[in-house]
Amino acid sequence: MTKRITTHTLLQMKVDRKRIVALTAYDYPSAVAVDQAGVELILVGDSLAPVVLGYENTLPVTMDEMIHHAKAVSRGAKRAFVVADMPFMADVSVDDAVRNGGRFLKEAGASAVKLEGGHPPQIAAVRALVQHGIPVVAHLGFTPQHLHQLGGFRIQGKTDEAATEILRQAKELEAAGACALVLELVPDVVAQRITAELTIPTIGIGAGEGCDGQIQVFHDLLGMHVDHRPKHARVYADLHGTIVSALERYGEDVRAGRFVSSEPLYGAGNKA
Ligand code: KIV
Repeated sequence: MTKRITTHTLLQMKVDRKRIVALTAYDYPSAVAVDQAGVELILVGDSLAPVVLGYENTLPVTMDEMIHHAKAVSRGAKRAFVVADMPFMADVSVDDAVRNGGRFLKEAGASAVKLEGGHPPQIAAVRALVQHGIPVVAHLGFTPQHLHQLGGFRIQGKTDEAATEILRQAKELEAAGACALVLELVPDVVAQRITAELTIPTIGIGAGEGCDGQIQVFHDLLGMHVDHRPKHARVYADLHGTIVSALERYGEDVRAGRFVSSEPLYGAGNKA
């Protein structure tokens, strides 16, 4: 039987200086592929809102939509540590955070939740979640749910003061019980310093090589986006192009009357 990755595995990987590979997945087939590829951590990110549901940003996605996707991912992932993203406003109070976090483990089969931000309400939510047995991955730097407040997709922690504040919040989140920290869009040196000062693993996205692991969005890596692709995403395939050209060939075959083979599929005596 495949051994499941746990919070302990992730902590040990930091101690052993083994890099953690993390990736998003939003449905069953992508979870199966990501799991088979040996990725340690699968995030059912609220990035599914723009990436697979066509919303403009992550804000509109609901708990029920997140649960629906997280269930499918959990069914597909046999080994990876599955983390589900708390959507915008799912943690406005500590009670909400615990109730919604609990749903991800109880209904969707996730192993942990991810929560954005490091201000007092989020610290309190992390502490309560952990006390209820719900592991939490924290998320600092650029936090997409604060898009409007941050004035768009911007690098965070560029000044000494801002970098020190991120480090301070990171330490508070660790003390509150977070099992890992995603660092998004922060300068390499800031990510390196935070990684060195924390005992929990850091997982970077647009934060340089100095983190304990890297996370990317499935569709960015595989070239499945038609429009926006972030600067930090390396592209390993052009699946959008491959899909469109396969579908064009299908269309050509149907239009030319050669899709159905000349051998009758369901002739007399053939079974369906
Ligand atoms: O929602 C998401 O996919 C994320 C990652 C990009 C870190 O938060």
